[in-house]
Amino acid sequence: MKKLFPSEFADLLTPKGRRILDGRDKTVSGALLDPARRFVALQGVVDADRAAACRDALDKALRELVVPMEDPIPHDSISGMTMNYMELLPKTVRVRTALLENRRSRSWRAAEAVGLTEMLRSDTFAAFAAAVSGRVLRRGWGIQVLCYGPGDYSGPHNDHHPEEAEARDGYVDMHLSLTMPGVDHQYLVYEKDGHLSEMTRVSTVGGVTVYRLPFWHYTTPLLARRGAEAHSRRWVLLGTFLDAAPQAKPSTTVTPPGLSGARLPARGA
Ligand SMILES: [Fe+2]
Repeated sequence: MKKLFPSEFADLLTPKGRRILDGRDKTVSGALLDPARRFVALQGVVDADRAAACRDALDKALRELVVPMEDPIPHDSISGMTMNYMELLPKTVRVRTALLENRRSRSWRAAEAVGLTEMLRSDTFAAFAAAVSGRVLRRGWGIQVLCYGPGDYSGPHNDHHPEEAEARDGYVDMHLSLTMPGVDHQYLVYEKDGHLSEMTRVSTVGGVTVYRLPFWHYTTPLLARRGAEAHSRRWVLLGTFLDAAPQAKPSTTVTPPGLSGARLPARGA
């Protein structure tokens, strides 16, 4: 199979995307250092034609290999209540995924064959996350592929990991959405001023979203266009980046443009 994904993420970018990668777009560079801004949605940064070609190759290679990930509402979440208004909803989700950590898996081999793993591991993929987040990030980031089909969603959750010292003060996620034409819509809803009141469409072809987690959010059920359910999937290419330790060696980090040699921004800056 032909490697449709470029070996460097930079090669998917438009001139606008390149400016962000190089730190020349002041409206986006380090945008997530603002504690009031947890999330940036970027359009027009990935070349739409190339993104569509990559999406089609990915769909062909992986649609039979992704595995269900399903956490429904607990069956006793209503019957087990003993007090009014004390309902608790853990994270619910229904999606399919290809974990790209196991080199022996068929999904890893398929992702490798289209060039996906190489691009997600490329320096410029992490450099883009560093540029938007404004953080010095650790090398060795996590990669994953998600596939939302009709009705797939994730319920309200915050992605906080208080048990992990390296993540408990926050971390960065970057998603590249590759949505098939059969999709009508899917949205990300997120918290502002204590309410889940903000909403942005994520059913894009080549839209990039960058997150400073944790914060409350959910992904609405994917809605297919009528009659197009069989060709209605939103693929999400995902990188998860931890902050570099303050004394980390430069060779183990990815630095935002313009910050080379500089110290990490203060936590919570
Ligand atoms: Fe999430």
